[in-house]
Amino acid sequence: MDRFLIVKNLVKRYRRPGLFGRAAAGVCAVDRVSFAMSRETVFGLVGESGCGKTSLVRSILFLDPPTSGEVWFDGTCLNTLSARRLRDFRKRMQIVFQDPNSALNPKMRIEDSLAEGLVNRGIPAPERNRRIDKLLDMVGIRPTHRRRYPHEFSGGQKQRIVIARALSMEPDFLVLDEPVSNLDVSIQAQIINLLLDLKQDLKLTYLFISHDLNLVAYVSDRIGVMYRGRLVEVASTEEIMRRARHPYTLRLFASMPGRSHVEGADAGPAAGEKKRPDVITGCAYAGDCALADERCRRREPMLREVGEDHRIACFKIEAVVPCDEDARLP
Ligand SMILES: Nc1ncnc2c1ncn2[C@@H]1O[C@H](COP(=O)(O)OP(=O)(O)OP(=O)(O)O)[C@@H](O)[C@H]1O
Ligand code: SF4
Ligand SMILES: [Mg+2]
Repeated sequence: MDRFLIVKNLVKRYRRPGLFGRAAAGVCAVDRVSFAMSRETVFGLVGESGCGKTSLVRSILFLDPPTSGEVWFDGTCLNTLSARRLRDFRKRMQIVFQDPNSALNPKMRIEDSLAEGLVNRGIPAPERNRRIDKLLDMVGIRPTHRRRYPHEFSGGQKQRIVIARALSMEPDFLVLDEPVSNLDVSIQAQIINLLLDLKQDLKLTYLFISHDLNLVAYVSDRIGVMYRGRLVEVASTEEIMRRARHPYTLRLFASMPGRSHVEGADAGPAAGEKKRPDVITGCAYAGDCALADERCRRREPMLREVGEDHRIACFKIEAVVPCDEDARLP
């Protein structure tokens, strides 16, 4: 692995003001997350709403700096950079969020939205014009529509324009934070296929986020499963699809359409149903796990190798009944 991106022990803690005379509280949205990814691959991050996916990627990009931990991008530790050098690095690391409506300024023509980054990079006007046409063409928007405003486009077209704007910075790393979850199902596949084509053509590296394990598996080379701020299972996509063993990952499988019964998956509350406590002791999943015992509630399981490029944080991994392999293939 060439280790294009390395995330080491990343923590993101938000402070909440104390109400009604109570002491200020804090929520640990990202709890000592570590993983690495190589160039031109897709790392998929999956987990239920509120598990800390967006907090993690905002910290990785230093849009909202981490409380502690390190991020290494292409051999450079971002923690040590001055604000100016960090800005330069960030041009190489772009993010696409789920809602294209809030990403585009409704009062700006799309050509002006796209021009912003090019102006910022000192590209002269005639070249800028040429590049705007090329960027729109690349994402499947007619360049003749460049003088239109965002409201004149559909949701899928707006997300294409947001992707074009991210590409205007000529990044080599894209974070895709639920890029299709606000779009009609019929449009989702088109945007995903566009992203995969762009990755191939432009040799991009993606960190792809979704709460949908099926989608993450379709797009990613490796997958990290996140639960309450912690990574609980990390493996290649094939390994996850065939041999996932963490009880939470098994529950994610069980909640996938057509997988109502997965052996080894206990029937706990649905995703997001439980409020995350401010402080977690022991295994983050102990409150929902049918296999939990006193040790799980007192001590925290660390990620450890259980196979080739397969790490799981669970004390009882041997006790988890593996699923029927074929039943879990897509
Ligand atoms: N700016 C903030 N201030 C305080 N708490 C925050 C802030 N941003 C996120 N949180 C909290 O951090 C936790 C993780 O939130 P985050 O948005 O990162 O989750 P997520 O996995 O991206 O969820 P979703 O799938 O809904 O987008 C949640 O408990 C959330 O309430
Ligand atoms: S460590 Fe214990 S509570 Fe946590 S997932 Fe494993 S069995 Fe369940
Ligand atoms: Mg999010």
